[in-house]
Amino acid sequence: MTGITKGFFGALANDGVDFDLQWGEVHALLGENGAGKSTLCSILAGLYHPDGGEININGRPVELRSPHAALEHGVGMVYQHFRLVDRFTVAENIALGHPDATFLSRSKDLEKQVEHLSSKYNMPVPADAGVWQLSVGEEQRVEILKLLHRGVQILILDEPTAVLTPQEARNLFRTIRSMAEEGRAIIFVSHKLDEVMEVSDRVTVLRDGKKVGTLPTSEADPASLARMMVGRDLEMPARREGVPGEPVLTVSGLTADGDRGFEAVRNVDLEVRAGQIMGVAGVSGNGQRELAEALTGLRPVKAGQVFLGGVDITRSSVLDRIKLGLGFVPEDRLGTGLAKGLPLAKNLSLKSYRAPPLSTGPVISKRAVDQRADELIQRFDIRGTRPGLPVSLLSGGNLQRAILAREISGGPKAMVAAAPTRGLDVAATEAIRTLLLEERDKGAAILMISEDLEEVLALSDEIVVLYEGRIIGRLRPDQADPEVMGLMMAGREVDLS
Ligand SMILES: Nc1ncnc2c1ncn2[C@@H]1O[C@H](COP(=O)(O)OP(=O)(O)O)[C@@H](O)[C@H]1O
Ligand SMILES: [Mg+2]
Repeated sequence: MTGITKGFFGALANDGVDFDLQWGEVHALLGENGAGKSTLCSILAGLYHPDGGEININGRPVELRSPHAALEHGVGMVYQHFRLVDRFTVAENIALGHPDATFLSRSKDLEKQVEHLSSKYNMPVPADAGVWQLSVGEEQRVEILKLLHRGVQILILDEPTAVLTPQEARNLFRTIRSMAEEGRAIIFVSHKLDEVMEVSDRVTVLRDGKKVGTLPTSEADPASLARMMVGRDLEMPARREGVPGEPVLTVSGLTADGDRGFEAVRNVDLEVRAGQIMGVAGVSGNGQRELAEALTGLRPVKAGQVFLGGVDITRSSVLDRIKLGLGFVPEDRLGTGLAKGLPLAKNLSLKSYRAPPLSTGPVISKRAVDQRADELIQRFDIRGTRPGLPVSLLSGGNLQRAILAREISGGPKAMVAAAPTRGLDVAATEAIRTLLLEERDKGAAILMISEDLEEVLALSDEIVVLYEGRIIGRLRPDQADPEVMGLMMAGREVDLS
C-alpha cells in the first residue's frame, strides 16, 4: 500500500500511509485509538475506497472496489464487530457469500470441510451449532474459518484479542503463527505491546493517521514502541493546580461484570477529593465505560464499595445518587445523556424538576422550567437553540454544554465525566475544559475518564491508568512522560521510584 489517504468529513483518518506486507509474516499494526488502523485495514479489505494512493499485490496494481473484489485477490478481514448471521448454523455462515453457497449448504461435505479446517488450525467449533449458541471466542473462530475456507491468503485481524480471554488469545496466537508458517500473510491489529512483541515478525506504528515507522519486532522494545505510539510532543499546557480537600468519592475493591459476562472492572480503588480532578487514562475498551456505569448506578456492582461524602452508595439507585450530589456526564450523549425527543428546557430540568422552584408538590411549573432553561442557555453559552426545541437538533459541542449545564447547575459534590470533549472542535473543547476546571475550583470532586491522553494531562491533578479493568498505574501529571504513559496504557507496570 503506497501513499494511502482517506478522509472522513474533512479529517484525515489515513494520511499518505505506506505499508508493505510480506508473504509468511505476521505484521502487527500498532496505534492508539483513532490512529487509523481500522481504516487502513478496511481499505485493503475493499470496504472503504481510498481518496488517494495505490495498492499492489504481488507487484501488480489492484483495484479493491468491494470486499468481494478483495476476496478474489485473496484478502479477507475479521472486523472488530463480527458479521455472522445469528440464526444460521456455523456451517451455513461459512457457506454464506461463497460462489457455490446453495450447493454447499445442502451438502454434508461442508460440515466435513469445516471440521477439517477447524482441527488443522486448532480452532474448535461445533459445525452444526447455531451461531446464537456460540461464545464470542467461538464466533471469532468461525469468522477466521470462513475466510480460510474461501482460500484467503492475506488475513487481517482487527483487534482480535479485544473480546478474548487470555487463554483464548494464546490459542489464537498459535493459529496465527501456523497460518504464517504456511506462507500466508497476516495483519494483526492491536494496541497492546505485549501481544505485538509475542506474535509479530514486524510492526508498523500509526499515529494520528500517519505512519510513524516499521521495524522488525526483534529490534523493537516495548518502551520504544510506546514512545512511537503516543509520541506526540506532550507539551504540558499551562495548568492551574487544584487545592484538594476532603475525600468525597471513595471507591474500594470495585468489581463489575461487563456485557459479555466477564469482569470488566476489577478491584478498583480510588479516592477523589473535593477540588480535585482525577484523570482516568487508558485505551478504550479497558473498562472505562463499565467503571462509569458502576459508579453512577447504571451497572450492578459485583464486589467492593462506593462512598459519596461518607455515605455508602454501592447499592443505591441512580436517583438516590443524584439526590446525594453525584453528577454524570456520559460518553453516549444522546443515548444515556439526554432524552432526544424532549425539548431542551425539559432536558435541562430532568434532574431538578422534583424540587422547588420548578415544582410545588406534584405540580411542575412550565414557566419556571423555561426560565431556568433560559438562564442555563445564557450561562453555559448553549448556541443555536431555544428552550422549546428538541435537543436532537443541537451540535456536538452544544449537546455537551447542555449536559454539563444540567449536571453542574445541580451543584454536584462529585462528578463522573466520561470522554467530556470527544468529537468536539477546538473551541468547544476549550469551553468544556474551562467549565470542568471552574467546577473543580468550586470544590467538586471530579473523576474524568478520557482516552485522550493530552486531555488527561491538561486537566488532572492525579492520574490513574486503567488496563483490562484494573488500575495499572498511578501518577502525578509531572511524572507522566509519553513513554511511561504509553507503556502503562499498553499494559506494562512501570516503577516510578
Ligand atoms: N466511518 C467513519 N466515519 C467517520 N469517521 C471515521 C469513520 N471511521 C473512522 N473514522 C475516524 O477516523 C479516525 C481513525 O479511525 P480508525 O481507523 O477507526 O482508528 P483505529 O482503528 O486506529 O482506532 C478516527 O478519528 C475516527 O473517528
Ligand atoms: Mg479500530
